[in-house]
Amino acid sequence: MKEILVTGGLGYIGSHTVVALAEAGFRPVIIDDLSNSRREVLDGIAQITGFRPAFYAYDLRRRHQVKEVFEAHPDLAGIIHFAASKYVGESVEKPLLYYENNICSLLNLLNEALAAGVHPFIFSSSCTVYGEPEQLPVTEDMPVQPATSPYGNTKQIDEEILRDTAAVEPLRVIALRYFNPIGAHPSALIGELPVGVPQNLVPFITQTAAGLRDELKIFGNDYPTPDGTAIRDYIHVMDLAEAHVTALNRLLEGRNKENFEVFNIGTGKGSSVMEVVKTFIEETGVDLPYRITGRRPGDVTAVWADTTRARKELGWTARRTMAQALRDAWQWEKKVRNIEK
Ligand code: UFG
Repeated sequence: MKEILVTGGLGYIGSHTVVALAEAGFRPVIIDDLSNSRREVLDGIAQITGFRPAFYAYDLRRRHQVKEVFEAHPDLAGIIHFAASKYVGESVEKPLLYYENNICSLLNLLNEALAAGVHPFIFSSSCTVYGEPEQLPVTEDMPVQPATSPYGNTKQIDEEILRDTAAVEPLRVIALRYFNPIGAHPSALIGELPVGVPQNLVPFITQTAAGLRDELKIFGNDYPTPDGTAIRDYIHVMDLAEAHVTALNRLLEGRNKENFEVFNIGTGKGSSVMEVVKTFIEETGVDLPYRITGRRPGDVTAVWADTTRARKELGWTARRTMAQALRDAWQWEKKVRNIEK
């Protein structure tokens, strides 16, 4: 069984991908500094898959720690790099943290990967690189727009570092540009565990429904969209996790056409904030107090993916619905809060 290094493997997307990898017959090896995750996530992974991955509570900014993991696992077949700071607002307040964490970590990882001769590399990118797109749905060929936050800038810079390196080194990279991941594993044994007040829509919804927050604020209903609320492409986190396994297999089997490739990973369908709220209420039957407030600075009006390239080239397409993702997110929230209803 092939060993795959998963950085940030106890985080939200990372942990679901570790499950998908184990179920596909890989042996994930996890590095995670626990800055926005918990060690107990390993228990959930082990319960779901029957396999307990090797785990290093290491910080990728420390090159000697990265080196140590490559030395302990000389047969790594590939790398999936999730570990990064991910909050747009926080990145504006703490730019150096974001540049250091999201860029130095990548440099250390790439240097050690090349030294160890490990070349397949999957990178977590974001639809944030498209900014406010001029056309919808967005294809991978549409221009990368100037970043509006240090977080977004780190994703652009990281893509450039990877493209430049793959041009001259044997590295083979797939950057997956995620749209909005939501939901949880259907077992409710792993899910999203935001530290502090959630910044994202769905964890805020589930925490409000669970009674932890008084009300959901809908940030603006004066956008030029059918119901006035902003539109995103919400993808079930298990669909996203499976996209990583598919992309990894493409690299392992040498089916990539370039040594740096980019794919949009979304459903291809846009949903408004109000549609998400209404679907949550319909699917769960739970009361969700909400109120319309002003727009959140930095938010775009609408973005959803053209998924043609992922379908044709990767042979991957999202299978789960937004309704299912919201049900799974709610099952997980209830489990975490010990709610019986
Ligand atoms: N929203 C609310 N109320 C909330 C939270 C969010 O109305 O309490 C709205 C937002 O205004 C937005 C939509 O719900 O219209 C989705 O917001 P999220 O914060 O869940 O997601 P974003 O699309 O803003 O952000 C996501 C990722 C970022 C990434 C960005 C790229 O979380 O990491 O996409 O566009 F940078």
